[in-house]
Amino acid sequence: MTRTPLISGNWKMNLNHFEAIQTVQKLHYLIPKGVLDNVEVSIHPPFTDIRSVQTLIESEDLDFALGAQHCHFEDSGAFTGEVSPAFLAKLNTQYVICGHSERREVFGETDEMVNAKVLAIMKYAMTPILCCGETLTEREAGKTESKVLGQIDAGLAGVTNEQIAALVIAYEPIWAIGTGKTATADDAQTVCAAIRMQVRKLTDDATADAVRIQYGGSVKGGNAPELMSQPDIDGALVGGASLDPDEFSRIIQFNG
Ligand code: 13P
Repeated sequence: MTRTPLISGNWKMNLNHFEAIQTVQKLHYLIPKGVLDNVEVSIHPPFTDIRSVQTLIESEDLDFALGAQHCHFEDSGAFTGEVSPAFLAKLNTQYVICGHSERREVFGETDEMVNAKVLAIMKYAMTPILCCGETLTEREAGKTESKVLGQIDAGLAGVTNEQIAALVIAYEPIWAIGTGKTATADDAQTVCAAIRMQVRKLTDDATADAVRIQYGGSVKGGNAPELMSQPDIDGALVGGASLDPDEFSRIIQFNG
């Protein structure tokens, strides 16, 4: 089973819509022809940039997928400040991150809300990037797998095998996010393999072999090749380094 690697840039709350256009143009310029034939790249700007980035991608026919960082699970209604998955789909958004640890920890998203988002995103034919990951305390207490696999079970409740095969899971140890600390490639591989095994238990071999699993947490140009060479790591969810087109283009070229 060959899984096309997916490298995703999660800009978090950075870059206004002017800066977004410059960043995406520069990134595209820095990636040699042919690289994007074998690697998929998604860009996840803040909501206020999405329309601008969509227009740029479509008018210049750039080989980037448009992504969002978050959405609500309802189609519409009295949810001040929230964004409907229907609106994202209308902008040709392809990937939506859900259950990022910052959303869970800072904004109180529960496993049940994350599951509702997974289902809502797929209802609009977009692909969820379902995030999971443990805190340092949980890791030190030997609870990494129980935490992460519990998030996977909850996040995938009610999702069909066919849908699971097409979605993306991102393993992001919370202690490695924005800290400059990366899980060793071996540690990241161990958890990603456990996630794939859990998907195998929940579904079947074909589904587990198809689902793409990203690693996230201080991914840089320097550590991307080793992380990406692991058998169960099919991509990277990149925060800080995705704001710098030079560094992000190095990650995208992890293969050479
Ligand atoms: P950093 O790459 O800045 O550690 O962030 C990882 C992340 O949270 C991506 O979603």
